[in-house]
Amino acid sequence: MRAVVFSAPGDLSVTTVPDPTAGPRDVIVEVAAVGMCGTDIHVFEGDYLGGEFPMVPGHEATGRIVEVGSAVDSLRVGDLVAIDPTLTCGECEYCTTGRPNLCRNWNSLGVIRSFGASAEYVSVPARNVHVLGENVDLFEATMIEPLSCVIRGLDLQPRRIGDHYLVYGAGTMGLLMAQMAVRAGAASVSVVDTNASRLAVAAEVGVELRAGSADELDRHEWDVVVDCTGVIPAMEDAMTRVKPGGVFQQFGVAPVGAKARYEPLRITKDEITILGSMAARHSFGRAVDMFVAGAIQAAPLFSHSFPLDGYADAMQMFRDGSGRKLQVRPHDDRKREI
Ligand SMILES: NC(=O)c1ccc[n+]([C@@H]2O[C@H](COP(=O)([O-])OP(=O)(O)OC[C@H]3O[C@@H](n4cnc5c(N)ncnc54)[C@H](O)[C@@H]3O)[C@@H](O)[C@H]2O)c1
Ligand SMILES: [Zn+2]
Ligand SMILES: [Zn+2]
Repeated sequence: MRAVVFSAPGDLSVTTVPDPTAGPRDVIVEVAAVGMCGTDIHVFEGDYLGGEFPMVPGHEATGRIVEVGSAVDSLRVGDLVAIDPTLTCGECEYCTTGRPNLCRNWNSLGVIRSFGASAEYVSVPARNVHVLGENVDLFEATMIEPLSCVIRGLDLQPRRIGDHYLVYGAGTMGLLMAQMAVRAGAASVSVVDTNASRLAVAAEVGVELRAGSADELDRHEWDVVVDCTGVIPAMEDAMTRVKPGGVFQQFGVAPVGAKARYEPLRITKDEITILGSMAARHSFGRAVDMFVAGAIQAAPLFSHSFPLDGYADAMQMFRDGSGRKLQVRPHDDRKREI
């Protein structure tokens, strides 16, 4: 089959590799689409994730089952599925205490040690596969994996009915966070982004309160402030906007070694809570349910799809920020605006 292969950091080719095989508890999925995100760039650069090369990238995938392992009886050839990429050891102190996203041996399809979905087919453990209904759009459904991370973020927040939210970043994650915060009971959700074209997308998905800077908004403090940029100046600004007793969540991924400044006195006297959020935990199935229930508008978040041969072009577009969410469709040989 054809696949994108990262042979070493910074070295990409689209080539023919052996077809994947299914172990007794695996299924083979014909990949419909796989979303691209910053994690793929980190993997390509051999960054902090510690991925092993050669690697086939791609962890935000959907597709159709074409082969079922001998010990799998809950899945059928032809099932349309979303793939939960997370692979955990099940044995470490975190896995055995219900915190698998902190697994000491955390692994993910297309991120650390397992071949991902930027290929015509991918082999996946049956337990990582979630069946979607016949009527689900497999291209849009690649948004389920990012949504599962956002739901993890929301799980950690206090989520009191009537809280006011401020989200930094109107990229995929910020706009999923903003939409889900409304579903979680927020009284208002404001979104800040320095890029006006991203604010236009925020408007398309129903975000009413939008600005290039929090100074332009009517409110001056918020119960829950979430960084979905990974950009230091955004985080430093965001921390100053948290209401006494409120919460700041660091959802965006900062560059390795980067430092942000905050005023410790405020954390103490205003009892500010600072939260992290790492990937998904027990949230993939709920992301499937919320997606199928139509809880988010996904379509406006996408801009282009690429064939496998266009993977380097997709990475270039991702880096220059001219598109929105990009995806690769291994069985389509044309680049498309979507
Ligand atoms: N915690 C997790 O589990 C998790 C999961 C997935 C992604 N992420 C991270 O979430 C972040 C957002 O992901 P994305 O795919 O939406 O990225 P993105 O690049 O599409 O969006 C980031 C947005 O931030 C905006 N921005 C940049 N500087 C800003 C500033 N100073 N003020 C306001 N806005 C600013 C950009 O214009 C852009 O629209 C990334 O850091 C990503 O790695 C975290
Ligand atoms: Zn991703
Ligand atoms: Zn573990």
